[in-house]
Amino acid sequence: MDVSTRDQWMTIAHETINAQPRVGKQLLSMLKGLSDITDGFSVDQMEHALQTATRAERDGADEEVIVASLFHDVGKLISVPNHPKIAAEILKPYVRHEVYCMVAYHQDFQGRYYYEYLGMNPNLREQHVGETWYPLAEQFADTWDQKAFDPNYQSESLEHFEPMVLRVFAQAKSL
Ligand SMILES: [Fe+2]
Repeated sequence: MDVSTRDQWMTIAHETINAQPRVGKQLLSMLKGLSDITDGFSVDQMEHALQTATRAERDGADEEVIVASLFHDVGKLISVPNHPKIAAEILKPYVRHEVYCMVAYHQDFQGRYYYEYLGMNPNLREQHVGETWYPLAEQFADTWDQKAFDPNYQSESLEHFEPMVLRVFAQAKSL
């Protein structure tokens, strides 16, 4: 790199921007791997993702929130303990700050429903009271994510969400 030129970097920047559509396509194929993960829940993680996004859409959430809902647990493909931050960092350049935080801290909000069974503090969400993104994170956890394990719920298909995914990942808003 220490001998690279401005022209070379203009070419790299141009080609990287042109190749951006591969990001959404790659993430969609990665997401499908969630169907191999159930870990004792009543639906697999693919159905959980579809159900969370469907609930968000049916409640009138905007496209960034719907796509973030679809991908909020994709980090479980890599590591369950730190899965929220993995998903949040994938989304970060493509969504506004409150949507990033909704995913990054969702486990603190979900803890209300089961952390006591694991000997953990179920009130971790309280540390975030007052944050501008708190109401969205609360709505996400309480009305979409924690409910999205219903084997009888009629979720939309992944194909339904594909155009939204490709639009959200079409262009980075920040680095
Ligand atoms: Fe979830």
